[in-house]
Amino acid sequence: MDERATGGRQTRVMAAERSRSVGPVILLGSPGAGKGTQAKRIAERFGIPQISTGDILRVNVQRGTELGLKAKDTMARGALVPDELIYDMVADRLRQADCQSGFILDGFPRTPAQAGWLDAFLEHGFFENLHRGVCLPIVIRIDVDYNQLILRLTGRRSCPHCGRIYNVYSQPPKVDEACDCDGSKLVIRNDDREEVIRERLAAYELQTKPVVAYYAQKGRLASVNGDLPVEKVTEEIFGVIEARRRADDRS
Ligand code: AP5
Repeated sequence: MDERATGGRQTRVMAAERSRSVGPVILLGSPGAGKGTQAKRIAERFGIPQISTGDILRVNVQRGTELGLKAKDTMARGALVPDELIYDMVADRLRQADCQSGFILDGFPRTPAQAGWLDAFLEHGFFENLHRGVCLPIVIRIDVDYNQLILRLTGRRSCPHCGRIYNVYSQPPKVDEACDCDGSKLVIRNDDREEVIRERLAAYELQTKPVVAYYAQKGRLASVNGDLPVEKVTEEIFGVIEARRRADDRS
C-alpha cells in the first residue's frame, strides 16, 4: 500500500475514534513509568484531554498561587501533596467542557482516599455525554523494572513550552537540548534529582500501590508492559481501551 493510502486510512481511523466517547481513563504506575508520555498519545488518538495533577501543581508553583505555595515544599521533597489540596483542583478541571466525552488521569488517584473520592465524583452522573457504563473508569497500570525507572527519570528532559517529553538515553531530541517541535531549550524537572527520585519511588510503594489493589478488587485493572519501546506500550494501551469499550458496550 502506498504512503498516501496508509496515511488516509490512519486519518479515518483517528476520526472514527474521536467521534466515540471513551470515558475516564486512569494511568497508574511509578514515577517514570511513562504515564505522561502515553497520556499524550492517548489524548491525540481519542481526542480527549490529558489531566496531569503533577503538571497542574507545577504551573501553580511557578505562578506562586496559594495552592502552589502550599504544595511547593512537599513536591520538592518528593512527598505527596495532602489529599484535601488535590480534590478541588481535580474537580475544577473535570467540570470543564472538554472532559464531557472522557479524559485521561495521569498522576491521580494516588491514594486509596483519592480513588474513593473519584468514585463518588463519577457516581454523581456529572458527565452528560457519558452513559453510566462508560463512566466506569478504564484503569491501566504501566509496569516498569525498578532499575529502569532511575535511568528514565535522571535522563528525562521536557519542553517548557509544549510539554513534550524526551530522554537523553532512549528518546533524545534531534538537536541537543532543543525541542523538536518548537526549538525551546529543554529543562530538567526540579524533582528529578537522585535523592528526590528515591523519595518519590518510596511514596509510590507506600501510598499509591494500594490504589492498584483497590481497582483490581473492582475488576477494573489492566496491566501493560512498560519496559517495551514507547510505540509498543501505546499499542498495548490502545488494545486495552478498545477491549474495555467493547465489553462496556455489551453490558
Ligand atoms: P507527577 O508529575 O505526577 O510525577 P510522577 O508520578 O512522579 O511521574 P512522572 O511524571 O515523573 O513520570 P511519568 O510516569 O509521567 O513518566 P514520563 O512519561 O515522564 O507528580 C510530581 C509530584 O506532584 C509528586 O511527587 C507529588 O508531590 C505531586 N502530586 C502529583 N499528583 C498528586 C496527587 N494526585 N496527590 C498528591 N500529590 C501529587 O517518562 C519518564 C521518562 O522515561 C521520560 O524521559 C520518557 O521519555 C522516558 N520513557 C517513557 N516511556 C518510555 C519507554 N517505553 N521506553 C524508554 N523510555 C521511556
